[in-house]
Amino acid sequence: MRSLSLSVSLLLLLPLSQALQWPLSLQKLFASPLKVAVVGAGASGSSTAFFLARAAKRLGKDVQIDVYEKEAYVGGRSTVVYPFGDTTLAPIELGASIFVDANKHMVRALSEWNLSTVPFDDAEYVGIWDGDEFAVIMHSDKPTWWDTAKLVYRYGLLAPVRTQRLVKALISNLNALYTSPLPPFPTVDALSAALGFTPYTASDAKTYLASKGIRGLFPEELMDGATRVNYAQSIDEIHALGALVSMAANGANSVQGGNWQVFDHMLKDSGAKVRLNTTVAEVNPKGDSWQVLTSSGTKASYDHVVLAAPLHLSPYTLPSNLSSSVPQAPYVHLHVTLLVTSTPGAKPEFFNLPPETALPDMILTTSKKGREAVKAFNSLSYHGATAGGWVCKIFSMQPLSDAWLDAAFGSSNILWTYRKEWDAYPYLLPTPAEPSPYAPMQLGKGLWYTSGWEPWVSTMETQSLAGRNVAELIVEGAWGGEERSCAEGKMRGWDC
Ligand SMILES: Cc1cc2nc3c(=O)[nH]c(=O)nc-3n(C[C@H](O)[C@H](O)[C@H](O)COP(=O)(O)OP(=O)(O)OC[C@H]3O[C@@H](n4cnc5c(N)ncnc54)[C@H](O)[C@@H]3O)c2cc1C
Ligand SMILES: *[C@@H]1O[C@H](CO)[C@@H](O)[C@H](O)[C@H]1NC(C)=O
Ligand SMILES: *[C@@H]1O[C@H](CO)[C@@H](O)[C@H](O)[C@H]1NC(C)=O
Ligand SMILES: *[C@@H]1O[C@H](CO)[C@@H](O)[C@H](O)[C@H]1NC(C)=O
Repeated sequence: MRSLSLSVSLLLLLPLSQALQWPLSLQKLFASPLKVAVVGAGASGSSTAFFLARAAKRLGKDVQIDVYEKEAYVGGRSTVVYPFGDTTLAPIELGASIFVDANKHMVRALSEWNLSTVPFDDAEYVGIWDGDEFAVIMHSDKPTWWDTAKLVYRYGLLAPVRTQRLVKALISNLNALYTSPLPPFPTVDALSAALGFTPYTASDAKTYLASKGIRGLFPEELMDGATRVNYAQSIDEIHALGALVSMAANGANSVQGGNWQVFDHMLKDSGAKVRLNTTVAEVNPKGDSWQVLTSSGTKASYDHVVLAAPLHLSPYTLPSNLSSSVPQAPYVHLHVTLLVTSTPGAKPEFFNLPPETALPDMILTTSKKGREAVKAFNSLSYHGATAGGWVCKIFSMQPLSDAWLDAAFGSSNILWTYRKEWDAYPYLLPTPAEPSPYAPMQLGKGLWYTSGWEPWVSTMETQSLAGRNVAELIVEGAWGGEERSCAEGKMRGWDC
């Protein structure tokens, strides 16, 4: 009683502003911060940390974020290598290479952190290989009237125009993710339904496009080339959402120096503690919190754990009653072969052409003659000059032997070779309504999962959005969420 009246009279002696500040700062001193672990420093994990930290700052809350990353680098499937291992040369994207204008997080990151871009439109000359011959060759940068006439003759006008309309509608619907005050989504099904995309994932692209009057060589050859380079799946396998995303190529760019820098900046901005070379082995419930156990045996407890790496492909385990809610999503096992060659193209003879022919610098493939016919590779593209030669990137479903490379390029023309295998992205398969093929965003109270978005569509941008979505769900649960109205020109998650 005595001490209480003493402190009350002390308070009265203080100027009013200070008297009011005292309890606030004391509260801050004693309130423990929200402790969050993120497993994986790729697009989705970095974005979770970034958007969570920005929201906490706006709300005046304390959050302590630890990001665990098994590799020695940030970026996950966004990473680069250097020709000849020489870091003075321009790096080459080994995984995710391009984003487009519609990818607003990637575009905002450029201005936020003053990053420059390299336009991807450097392929001037595109050919579509069917296993025997080039079905079509076109100059994509400056089409001549002859190129245009050839393409119109081949594909007609209706199919391209109708496809372009679908892509435009898709992009305008996706815009809602940045502008609408919708609450965060608890599931991918809710996300897809809110955007009106459920019909796009319900059937394979070929069937869906035919139902919209888009038939013939345009989908079966040209769009097939696009889905095979983007997702290593043919037009009759991939769902229509995957195919339309593959056709949305306006303003295709890479970040100069590597796309991974976007995620590195996000992590730095978030103030998260990033533990590289640290593999999470297990995540287990412990009372009201979650315990993260690393492969070296360290343990720490968190209020929330965000799993930002595909469960079935990553070296962490969960109690079986939690992992059972994550459906197995089959991933494309992709082989990426990088070369520096002394010639600006492959050997024309390898493509049944006379020796002096100039080959397209981007060779796509079409499976219209059967997938066996184009089994060897999915795409072969040149990406400009480097010291002593030209950079070439090949995607294939099996390893390319030295003998194959020698035959395609001439053994004396290969100056450097680099091979990488990725579990690149899921098979974007037509999805039944029941049972849902998508993992929930929340696996348990305080346990979150970002990789469930990938079978819907797998890009840096959508995984960044998955990270934002989880961050918003955490903010809702922990602090009641944020008022969701952003002024004109402000961007959800970034500014408001
Ligand atoms: C060859 C290729 C080309 C692609 N092209 C494009 C493209 O042009 N444009 C585009 O937008 N997308 C592209 N993608 C897809 C894109 O890369 C992915 O959709 C996206 O990067 C996935 O981000 P993520 O954060 O969800 O997963 P990831 O990037 O895989 O991040 C997961 C992270 O978790 C770490 N990790 C895993 N397990 C553990 C553990 N137990 N403990 C600690 N850390 C762990 C991993 O090391 C990794 O860093 C491409 C992918 C590939 C492979
Ligand atoms: C991670 O490990 C690599 C080699 O295994 C080492 O070169 C690097 O310094 C380590 N990085 C950190 C941050 O521990
Ligand atoms: C942005 O980067 C460019 C070069 O990439 C540099 O010239 C410029 O000074 C930078 N601006 C800021 C504000 O950092
Ligand atoms: C999983 O099982 C544990 C006991 O082994 C239980 O405490 C927990 O509530 C279960 N979680 C879910 C989401 O069913």
